[in-house]
This record gives sequence, structure tokens and C-alpha cells, in this order.
Amino acid sequence: MTTSNNEGFIHIDDLDQHAADAHRPTITERNRVDYRAVAKDVGRIGEGKTYIIRTHGCQMNEHDTEIMSGMLEEMGYRPAAVLEDADFVLYNTCAVRENAEDKVFGHIGTLKPMKAKNPNLMIGLCGCMAQEAVVRQKIQEKHPHVDIVFGTHNIHQLPELIEQAQDTKETIFEVWDKSDATIENLPKLRKDKIRAWVNIQYGCNKFCTYCIVPFTRGAERSRLPEDILAELRELAAEGYKEVTLLGQNVNDYGIDLGHVDFADLLDAAARVEGLERIRFTTSNPWNFTDKMIDTIARHDNIPKWVHLPAQSGNSQVLRRMKRGYTREEYLELIDRVKAKIPNVTLSTDLIVGFPGETEEQFQDTLSLIESVRYDSAFMFIYSPRADTPAIRLPDDVSDEEKKSRLRRLNELQDRISLEQNKKLEGQVLRVLVESESKNNPDVLQTRTDSNKLLHVQGSKDLIGQFINVKVIEAKTWTLNGERVNEEVPAV
Ligand code: SAH
Ligand code: SF4
Ligand code: F3S
Repeated sequence: MTTSNNEGFIHIDDLDQHAADAHRPTITERNRVDYRAVAKDVGRIGEGKTYIIRTHGCQMNEHDTEIMSGMLEEMGYRPAAVLEDADFVLYNTCAVRENAEDKVFGHIGTLKPMKAKNPNLMIGLCGCMAQEAVVRQKIQEKHPHVDIVFGTHNIHQLPELIEQAQDTKETIFEVWDKSDATIENLPKLRKDKIRAWVNIQYGCNKFCTYCIVPFTRGAERSRLPEDILAELRELAAEGYKEVTLLGQNVNDYGIDLGHVDFADLLDAAARVEGLERIRFTTSNPWNFTDKMIDTIARHDNIPKWVHLPAQSGNSQVLRRMKRGYTREEYLELIDRVKAKIPNVTLSTDLIVGFPGETEEQFQDTLSLIESVRYDSAFMFIYSPRADTPAIRLPDDVSDEEKKSRLRRLNELQDRISLEQNKKLEGQVLRVLVESESKNNPDVLQTRTDSNKLLHVQGSKDLIGQFINVKVIEAKTWTLNGERVNEEVPAV
């Protein structure tokens, strides 16, 4: 028997029992595997050697880098201070837009003379680019000085691939097309002692027509809630204040498990004692449920900030992107979010120049920004990607026009961001102190609930603590403030 509260939520203490009661169609002992059981123990073959990992792309890649750093350090490797000193250079890559790929090829090209001077230098490429056949072909033909290429599904093989590469001069290509596994107990060397990333789900089943992610990350697979909650409790015990739950499409969390959904998980995560901020990324407007909105509204430790990538403000374009909602449905969702979460901060992702986007259709994206009044937006020029459905559509908006649309979008969003930030002047906010400011050691870099950077004078003993700050000056991308002892009213 399991219990649920009034809103139909499963209580945290009952999740295990509930899981045992429920039918679990996909995740079985077979495909939920332990790192120690699947990874080869190669011993301390990295002893006395150094490594550097260059990370591109999203938070998921950042977190994969923490996992691979953990593996390398278990093998005896230590971080290199600069790339020139490293014995192993690994590129953890992103395939989402072409310019990200060009940069990586540029970097790899510059390593060629280094490798000629030091034949013991080992070079690796992993992440989303490695999943693309065209990339692997280019490496084979133009960059044979790369030693190891492996993909997103088999990062647990890094130790054995390094071991193999020591004995061969050929590039080793070990890329899996897909995986139905979730791997537990991966080693991790977290970059930060205050904020942590936690994978909750891998892959994406949405297949938006422009996007390569479902091809590079495979089908959606959820980690079991009990594994995620155990990791969260561990992080709280280690003193972490903030966690970000990671998935390409967190709304779909649990669909493959069948007994739990994302709102249940979020609710359970918010009840883990000691965690003061639970963030999540990325959520799709398509199935952003009322249950999710209510969960965010109910918990003080879930920031009142929602990132809802719109991609376009025009229903025809959205249909061609296969986003699963119209402009009207998106705006209706925004209204519901604003009604249930007073003072919510909103942000978004937008693409300009999707095939066939007319000036009028682009104007709808401008007017969407005006209507919603996002605090911030990530804006991109459409980039045709291999294997995606949209690559078959003529890429008919000229480069010049794409650039002009991006510029106009940026100008409008910058104005709105500044106006939104100005509203905060004089308000007292509870912020988490992250670090010293990069430019001035007397100034602290802090982050508001809504993920804005706020600078304030203060001692570095405050790093890792929440403090109250009055906003003195608002700029487009950052805030300046001064410390106060006033209590911040509960949100
Ligand atoms: N899962 C996330 C998106 C991950 S990719 C989501 O659905 O929100 C991050 C952003 O990159 C997307 O939101 C989109 O705005 C942008 N993007 C993805 N593919 C792109 C492409 N082919 N060209 C330009 N921008 C793209
Ligand atoms: Fe890409 Fe769409 Fe999946 Fe996001 S939801 S990762 S944009 S396919
Ligand atoms: Fe890029 Fe792969 Fe993330 S394509 S955005 S690194 S999932």
C-alpha cells in the first residue's frame, strides 16, 4: 500500500514501495547497470600523467566531463595546468550547431604539430559529434592524429580505450548507435562544492525537426527515482546547497518507468533535507503539466524561475519544427504559469531563419517576446544538421537576413531584460554566494533564484552561503547590490 497526499503526489517515503508495487516495463536489472560491473579495471595506468578535458555544449556534457574526470583520476591522472603540458587531451563535443563543430575541428588541427613533437601525447574526441558518421569520416581522413573516438553511450569505456590506445598507432573508433542502459555509481569529480548536476534522464524522443540531439543521445531513459534520491541525499550530506536535475526533456521523466512522473520526482527532491535550491533543465512547453506548475509553486526551495523554450512565435513555423504546440497554446501555458506562480521569472530559447520563415513569421517571434516579457533568452541562427528532417527543407533564408533577424531579436530582448531587471532595484533578494568575482577579488559573485548574476562586496568566507542583498543597480545581464540583514519574505 502506498499513500498520496491531497494533490495526488506520492510521498517521498513511499516511492520505493510504490516502485516495487508498480509494473516496470523498461528499466530492469539488465539495463540498469553498475559502473564497477561494466567498466574494465585497468589499474593506475595514468600515474604520473596529466589530462585536460575541453567541454563544449550543454550542462549534460559538463556533467559527463565531471564523470570522465572522476574515471581519469581513479586511473592516476592529474589535471594539467595548461593544454601544452597535458599527456591526454580530450574534446567533449556538441553537435547542435555547425559553428560549434567547426571550432572543435579547428582546435584538433592545432594539436597536430604538438603530437608531431610529442608522439606520446594522446588525443580523444567524445560527446555528440562522435555520434555523427560524417564527423568520424572527417577524423579518419583529415585528423588521423586523434587516438580515440567514443560516443555518448559508452563513456564508461574510457579507461579500457586508453589502455588499448597505448598499444596501437591507429585511431580507435568505439561509438555505439544506441543504448537502453542507465549506468549507476559512476565516479565523479564535481567542479563545484556548492552546486551539483544530477542526471535524471538520458536521451530525447521528441525529434523536433531541426534538432540532432535525439540522434546523438538516443531514446529517453530515466534513472530510477530511488537512485536519484540517494544521490541527492548524499549531496546534501556533503554540504551541497543547490542541485540541477538534468535531462533533455525532463517533462517526460518516468514515462519509460511507468510509475512516477517528473512532478513526483521534483516533489520528492524538494523534500530532501538540506537541499536549499532544486533547479531543473530542460522542460518542454509541449507537456508542461499543471502538476509540475503546482509543484514549483508549492516548494520554497524550487526557484520561481521557468525556462520554456518557445523556438518561434509563429504557429506555422512551430508546426514545421514539430514542436507540438501553437503560439496560442504556448501563450496560454505562460498565462497559467504566471497565474499560479506569482512573480515568476521566465526565460526561453529562440531560433531565427528556420527554413521558410518569412519576415511576417519572424515578426511573430518579436511580438511573442513583447507579450511574454522574458527576463532572458538564448537566441540562435538556424543551423542545418545532418540526418534531421529539416535538412530536407530548403535553407532559404539568406545568411544576411538570418543575421539581421538575430540582431533585431537581440536588441528587443536586451531592452526587455533591462526593463525587467530595473524592476528589481530596491528589492531585497536571497542569493547564493558562488565565488569571488573574476575581475575583482573584493567583490562576490552571487546568483539569484532566477539565475541572475548579482555582484556584492563581501568577505570570501561567505562563499557557499545564502545572504540577503538589496539590489542597487540593474544592468542588462547583471545586478549590483549591497548586503542587508533584512529578512526576505517567503516566496
Ligand atoms: N532539449 C532542449 C534543447 C536542447 S538544444 C529543449 O528542447 O529545450 C538547446 C537549444 O539549441 C534549443 O532549444 C534550440 O533553440 C537550439 N537548437 C537546437 N538545434 C538547433 C539548430 N539546428 N539550429 C539552431 N539552433 C538549434
Ligand atoms: Fe532537441 Fe526538441 Fe529534444 Fe529539445 S525536445 S532536445 S529541441 S528534439
Ligand atoms: Fe550539444 Fe549534445 Fe548537449 S548536441 S546541446 S552537447 S546533448
